[in-house]
Amino acid sequence: MDLKELRQRAREKLKGCCRVCPECNGRACAGEMPGMGGIGTGAAFRHNVEALAAVHVNLRTLHGIRIDSVDTRLNLFGRELSCPILAAPMTGMAFNAGGALTEEEWAGAVVKGALAAGTLAMTGDGPDPVMYRSGLAEIGHRGGLGIPIIKPRANEEVYRYIDLAQEAGAAAVGMDIDAAGIIPMARAGQPVSPKTPGELREIIAHSALPFIVKGIMTVDEAEIAAEAGAAAIVVSNHGGRVLDHTPGSAEVLTKISAKVRDHMIVLADGGVRSGLDVLKMLALGADAVLIGRPLLIGAAGAGEEGVTLVLKTLGKELKEAMLMTGCAGLSGIKADVAAGVPAAVQLG
Ligand SMILES: Cc1cc2nc3c(=O)[nH]c(=O)nc-3n(C[C@H](O)[C@H](O)[C@H](O)COP(=O)(O)O)c2cc1C
Repeated sequence: MDLKELRQRAREKLKGCCRVCPECNGRACAGEMPGMGGIGTGAAFRHNVEALAAVHVNLRTLHGIRIDSVDTRLNLFGRELSCPILAAPMTGMAFNAGGALTEEEWAGAVVKGALAAGTLAMTGDGPDPVMYRSGLAEIGHRGGLGIPIIKPRANEEVYRYIDLAQEAGAAAVGMDIDAAGIIPMARAGQPVSPKTPGELREIIAHSALPFIVKGIMTVDEAEIAAEAGAAAIVVSNHGGRVLDHTPGSAEVLTKISAKVRDHMIVLADGGVRSGLDVLKMLALGADAVLIGRPLLIGAAGAGEEGVTLVLKTLGKELKEAMLMTGCAGLSGIKADVAAGVPAAVQLG
């Protein structure tokens, strides 16, 4: 199946929950939550896409690099990945994706599809226990090759969920701290809340696995995560789904990365739609990126194969973008790959 057919099938299966637009930019679906959109006006989702579009790249072709030798491999949490592109955690298939997939089908498609592309998936958590459980079960079946991300639940609950991740042998574990205010969790009697730096330190100390703090958008909070012992952060506004009018993640990435990248891994997500977008995020200071909505479209259109196809396409585009910007490997993707960065994108 090619991408065109995959997208047509996804459009049918998603029944309007996602229109599978030519450009996935948060405009048509603004405010559609439940659904695939961004919260409120949809500005935070749009800002992710716009911030990346505003970053231009320097064309460089006077070099000896050849496409077959471009190396996108990355070592992350002790595993070698084919490319710096992971699947973002996503849940709520019944209410966000119109039931196009069950929670179990989604977890299977994304964990296996990412592995077939030579990379890893993160899996999510939500008000229905099946959401965390199905991701974790799939990770367990694949010898721990995946990363569960836990909601900022009551601390005792978080400890229990971390223990389950450890039992499944997960590669790492994390928390989407930016989900600290989401209503459906409270409605389901599983309240979430922000964590104090002390609480975060205790949570991380409980984990024998590398710990990822997902949903960092400011330098001060990146420093708190680093001081609390996090192995990694994800610079992310949750795909624009938790607070309207935040900046795009690409706008804040460089400042954050400049402060903490010496001490921890910096991941980023939000609006990454092409291999060139991956290159831009890396030039702005990310070690790797996460992909959200395009993989849900992939899974709705063609299950595990759809996830693999979308990821492999992004990996291929990244190689092409590296060739054309003179980058033989990921360590060669430096800030000078980016050109004409607008003032809104805060450089370190
Ligand atoms: C339908 C949907 C469900 C999501 N569920 C979760 C989740 O359970 N846990 C989490 O950490 N992030 C969740 N996210 C946020 C993604 O992990 C990611 O940060 C975001 O989608 C990246 O932006 P992109 O979709 O533009 O690539 C969800 C996003 C969407 C669109």
